Amino acid sequence: MAAYSWTDHTFDVVVVGAGGSGLRAALGCAQAGLKTACVTKVFPTRSHTVAAQGGISAALGNMGEDKWQWHMFDTVKGSDWLGDQDAIEYLTRNAPAAVYELEHWGVPFSRTEEGKIYQRAFGGMTKNYGEAPIQRTCAAADRTGHAMLHTMYGQSLRHSVDFFIEYFALDLIMEDGVCRGVTAWKLADGTLHRFRAQTVVLATGGYGRAYLSCTSAHTCTGDGNAMVLRAGLPLQDMEFVQFHPTGIFPAGCLITEGARGEGGYLTNSNGERFMERYAPTVKDLAPRDMVSRAMTLEIRDGRGVGPNMDHINLHLDHLDPKVLHERLPGISESAKIFAGVDVTRQPIPVLPTVHYNMGGIPTNYHGEVLTKRGGDPTIVPGLMAVGEAACVSVHGANRLGSNSLIDLVVFGRAVGLRCGEMLKANASQPSLPKDAGDSHLARFDRFRSAKGATSTAKLRDKMQRTMQDTCAVYRTGPVLQEGVERMAKLWDEAPDVSVTDRSMIWNTDLVETLEFDNLMGQAIVTVNGGLNRTESRGAHAREDFPDRDDEHWMKHTLAWLDAASGKVTIDYRPVHTHTMTNEVEYIPPKKRVY
Ligand code: FUM
Repeated sequence: MAAYSWTDHTFDVVVVGAGGSGLRAALGCAQAGLKTACVTKVFPTRSHTVAAQGGISAALGNMGEDKWQWHMFDTVKGSDWLGDQDAIEYLTRNAPAAVYELEHWGVPFSRTEEGKIYQRAFGGMTKNYGEAPIQRTCAAADRTGHAMLHTMYGQSLRHSVDFFIEYFALDLIMEDGVCRGVTAWKLADGTLHRFRAQTVVLATGGYGRAYLSCTSAHTCTGDGNAMVLRAGLPLQDMEFVQFHPTGIFPAGCLITEGARGEGGYLTNSNGERFMERYAPTVKDLAPRDMVSRAMTLEIRDGRGVGPNMDHINLHLDHLDPKVLHERLPGISESAKIFAGVDVTRQPIPVLPTVHYNMGGIPTNYHGEVLTKRGGDPTIVPGLMAVGEAACVSVHGANRLGSNSLIDLVVFGRAVGLRCGEMLKANASQPSLPKDAGDSHLARFDRFRSAKGATSTAKLRDKMQRTMQDTCAVYRTGPVLQEGVERMAKLWDEAPDVSVTDRSMIWNTDLVETLEFDNLMGQAIVTVNGGLNRTESRGAHAREDFPDRDDEHWMKHTLAWLDAASGKVTIDYRPVHTHTMTNEVEYIPPKKRVY
């Protein structure tokens, strides 16, 4: 192995990732007086939260009566009863305060005539426990994530968060089951860094890039999830992968659900508004899993549009151009650039596209990471997770649109509060073990000096096609089994990877290879989890098991990956059917009708 040396740092808290959840968590820790670092592989305002369009949910009641209890009910029902109800209560009752906090920090929300925060309709958000759609999603035009990210980055600087920008996190430093820090590679100068901390917070986002077509940035490779797997800890509910109904066909870029919230609708090749058949009450504003399945069925039944009848039309051409200009300027531009469509006159070609991972690192609603070694789940000392990387689980089997941005800030804040309660600023920390980071360097060096015959791009393409072919909107046992076998074969082929750039500075060949390795573990766990769960629930639609089976499957999957063999071990954790306070009762499962 080449000779490497570490630069050492000590902080109270190290947050890995600078998207919405990472910035909110770092800001909260700094506000609590803790010495806080934020380590990020991209410049903070380039994190993927910047691409979030339609908005952030909270029962503000600016467009008519609303209650957090209705929001809670919708979130539990939308999750197909896999969400933890204590965490969902925490999310929905703290949501309004979190949005007002953003407003006071300077997020430029769109406004009503009276100057209140504008709210639009989003899928699955209803009034009075499912009676009719409601306008609950607070929006800054269709660039809400962009506005939030820039505002929170400014606030983090104001509170003296120490940023380590364009540092690629390598692995967690674990000692006797306790997280003691994290290592990272600085891309700009090739130096290697060990961060010792009382607590490491993983805010590293989702792993959409395990698939061929997704709305996620190329950087969404779930690096924190992969670090957790390598640390011998489990990931939770990874079989639940959300397909957003309206990715632009064929490019995959997002057209916000806010487009349907403003009155847009979907049609098939007969010009029929087919969602009226699938969800007579909420129609095009049904939850995403239902809309994606309906679109897939229309295409399968020969009613897709286009020369190959392989996509669906989204109409905005009946809307007032003033509304399009004010409320949906970003997607009007994307439709022009990526589909050559003028939305004032033509429909946008769309197709369900991978958008979000409901699964991730198991946590409680304070952000503390959980594991299980027989018996009940236990907390992993020194390790927290938040945002899309985490599985709290508020989204269960299916996330409602606009519940992601609120998840980021409510639980980012919760992490800051918990760290403030649990940690003492500048407390002395034991020295790191002598060999801390050695195994990280061995992995790093193995890839840096890889001399195989297959390019990373070729291996990655195989993985992405396998996931797209075998673990999509609809799944069956035999096809998932094929996915498991194809992924196992690819795991065995992966050591033949070729890395041609041996340098340490901005070596994108090596970055992509480390990211590919991170994606592989998550893809394997996902497809194995899908094969294992023999029911249909939320985004996991098994054609061979079409019904939800609460008796056997109202439980979270926990999956471990053996880093040497690529084999997956599965166990379970109960769904929290208790609420956080007695102000709302447990919401019992029933058939989802919209
Ligand atoms: O459609 C959208 O604007 C996406 C929102 C979300 O995923 O929450």
